[in-house]
Amino acid sequence: MTLETRREPAKTRQPVMELIARRWSPKAFGPEVPSGNELASMFEAGRWAPSCFNNQPWRYLVTTRNDPGAFSRALACLTEKNASWVRNAPLLAFQVMRETFEYNGKPNPWSGFDCGLAMAQLIIQAEFMGWSVHVMAGFSRDRVRETFGVPEGFKPLVAFVIGREGDPHSLPPHFMEEETAPRERKELEETVFSDSWGKSLF
Ligand SMILES: Cc1cc2nc3c(=O)[nH]c(=O)nc-3n(C[C@H](O)[C@H](O)[C@H](O)COP(=O)(O)O)c2cc1C
Repeated sequence: MTLETRREPAKTRQPVMELIARRWSPKAFGPEVPSGNELASMFEAGRWAPSCFNNQPWRYLVTTRNDPGAFSRALACLTEKNASWVRNAPLLAFQVMRETFEYNGKPNPWSGFDCGLAMAQLIIQAEFMGWSVHVMAGFSRDRVRETFGVPEGFKPLVAFVIGREGDPHSLPPHFMEEETAPRERKELEETVFSDSWGKSLF
């Protein structure tokens, strides 16, 4: 892939770690499948995330192109729009959340937060190793449950792709536009308050 097809790092207002500025969610991926060791490092990074009562509610279902049957069963769980670009990706996975605390069986309101932290660590580790991750909400939870035998008390939370960033020109034209559009974020003033709601810290 030529350099000019790669995205510029985010134009951050303050200095941040290069990995954070560089991370984004591509839709165009190359065919290379991460090795078992590389995948183990990514999931290891997620494994060491903090979690409420150290409950570690994250579970994963992982399919790759190396098993086309499993990959296409996973693909069939996605919305049509997501499936249309994910079909060319090398790996499709789901993060599944345990809904209760293991120590007392009661509902864990922080499970989603914990899973998000684990995914963030996984994503940054992947980025460090030259891989990109794209998380998706556009899939059928019930279909994941049925297809992969997810037990009661566990909830499919997000789907995600891992792969090498690919050439955006390989995407259908409507995605090409999204893929190359400027990346935007709310200003810190809109989200970080001091001693009263809406009063910016900065
Ligand atoms: C929980 C979650 C759900 C998402 N769902 C989808 C999705 O279904 N399809 C998609 O193309 N991108 C999806 N995204 C990616 C976001 O659109 C993307 O992260 C956001 O636009 C910011 O862009 P960036 O990740 O490139 O910085 C999702 C991201 C998250 C965290």
